[in-house]
Amino acid sequence: MKDHDAGNDHVAIDGPVSSGKTTNAQLLAAQTGHLYLDTGAMYRAVAFLALTNGVDLDNESGLVAMLGHHAIAIIPDPDTTPGYRVMIDGKNTGERLFDPDVAAAVSTVAALPAIRAELVARQRAIAAAGPVVMAGRDIGTVVLPDARFKFFLTASVDERARRRHAEFQMRGIDVSFEDVRAQIAERDRLDSTRTHSPLRAAPDAVTIDSTDMLPEDVVAKMRAVMEAARA
Ligand code: DC
Repeated sequence: MKDHDAGNDHVAIDGPVSSGKTTNAQLLAAQTGHLYLDTGAMYRAVAFLALTNGVDLDNESGLVAMLGHHAIAIIPDPDTTPGYRVMIDGKNTGERLFDPDVAAAVSTVAALPAIRAELVARQRAIAAAGPVVMAGRDIGTVVLPDARFKFFLTASVDERARRRHAEFQMRGIDVSFEDVRAQIAERDRLDSTRTHSPLRAAPDAVTIDSTDMLPEDVVAKMRAVMEAARA
């Protein structure tokens, strides 16, 4: 067993933008007592730092050097909507990491192998400390290939755009549904066609299409799969 297996009770949840990973992973972790980690937050933090430091999004060595100068911490916080706070250099980033400019930049930095290597090492170190529900794009395929439970969440592009647009509206961010839909389709394309760790379901993942499902039902389905495997 490798260090990051931690008794191998890990749950890997992968899927495209707004497929419900964050909501369902958070809910599942609250029910099972696992630590919840949204790895997308780490990539978003790098994109945010690149924008604020004026480092080009494809300047791989510059971005790695930049990371060495900043402390990124993800603190579980069930009282917030994503279920965690991202602290950069001790300051809470709040909802800033979910702004459209960060969303537009994140796929570019997430495609860089040196950035991925750095963040995957951090994710495995967290998993080595205890059982996690980890959400992302490459958790079941790369980060925790031996995770005991693997899920791949999907939903139609229209439904995912509707969810993301509603989130922006609630925050008073004025973007059209068409723009949100186009950005999601473009991020899907970038995330699935990149050379390093592209978004795809692990062969042993259980796929759940959440288009017409409530989060409670998605989580109930996940728990049923987990209980059946444990029986
Ligand atoms: O899940 P999210 O939308 O917050 O993820 C933000 C971006 O980070 C997304 O464009 C893909 C990338 N990402 C990744 O490449 N690998 C992960 N494990 C998690 C996110």
